[in-house]
Amino acid sequence: MSQDSICYLSGKYLPKSQATLPVEERGLLFAEGVYEVVRTYAGQLYEMQPHLDRLQRSLNKTGMTAPKDLDQLTAISEKLVAENNLPESLVYIQITRGAGPRTVRSYEGLVPNTLVVVYPTTTFDEAADMPSKTLALVPDIRWHMCDTKTIMLMPNIAAGNQATALGADDALMHRNKIVTEGTAANAFAIKNGELFTHPADNHILHGITRATVIRLARENGFTVNETALTTEQFLDADEVFLSGTTTHVTAVTKIDGQNVGAYTENCALADVYPIAQKLHEFFVSRIGSLIGSPQTA
Ligand SMILES: Cc1ncc(COP(=O)(O)O)c(C=O)c1O
Repeated sequence: MSQDSICYLSGKYLPKSQATLPVEERGLLFAEGVYEVVRTYAGQLYEMQPHLDRLQRSLNKTGMTAPKDLDQLTAISEKLVAENNLPESLVYIQITRGAGPRTVRSYEGLVPNTLVVVYPTTTFDEAADMPSKTLALVPDIRWHMCDTKTIMLMPNIAAGNQATALGADDALMHRNKIVTEGTAANAFAIKNGELFTHPADNHILHGITRATVIRLARENGFTVNETALTTEQFLDADEVFLSGTTTHVTAVTKIDGQNVGAYTENCALADVYPIAQKLHEFFVSRIGSLIGSPQTA
């Protein structure tokens, strides 16, 4: 893909360099916008319907008017995936409130804008090891509508930056010592063979991968508690992992520099993280079966 990929902006397909929005677009002025990120596997959009459903919920919760091309998003995304000719893509879909004078109260006559951009991403490798990350605990300073996927991501970015400054790969956010989620992923802890993850309320994004992981875990006989845990309980867990569209199932090996569970620098991750490893395999296997390749588990 050339740098100047083809994107979609409110009715037009055009090179990214030619796609522009007015300076008074309220997405730019006030971060009034919602979005989704969808992955392809073997060039096929993965879990498109749950992403579209969540986008609709985000529009409803923010009181945003649906753009007139809302029901064409699958066709638009498929066209961009094909035209940009990438082995695998991340499809970024954004709807912003529209352009108008910079008054906070009036939405009258505003026409929402739809932007769809595709980015290259990793190809799916069924044999790849479960990925891992280190995290640092960072206060969750977001608002109380984290179940709405808005483009207002400064708190997530700031948390990630804080974690980097602390020497970790990313942040594990907590609200008053209750772990909520990662900056772009949901968080799970495992203790005595049971899974724990924050309930799907207004303090976390209701991750599509989170729902899949919970279902796969339950189908395979594991107990999943949608119960919030404290930072201390996460630090004391046997295993911790993240889930997300781009994260898949990613083991968390350290929190605040402290090894999680039986993890040590030279260990085989699959041995010390047996349940996360299984969930990684179930997840990979599910994708493998969806794209028609041999299953690994
Ligand atoms: C804050 C946050 N939590 C969780 C997730 C994971 O959600 P999903 O599994 O739907 O990608 C994301 C994904 O972007 C996110 O931004």
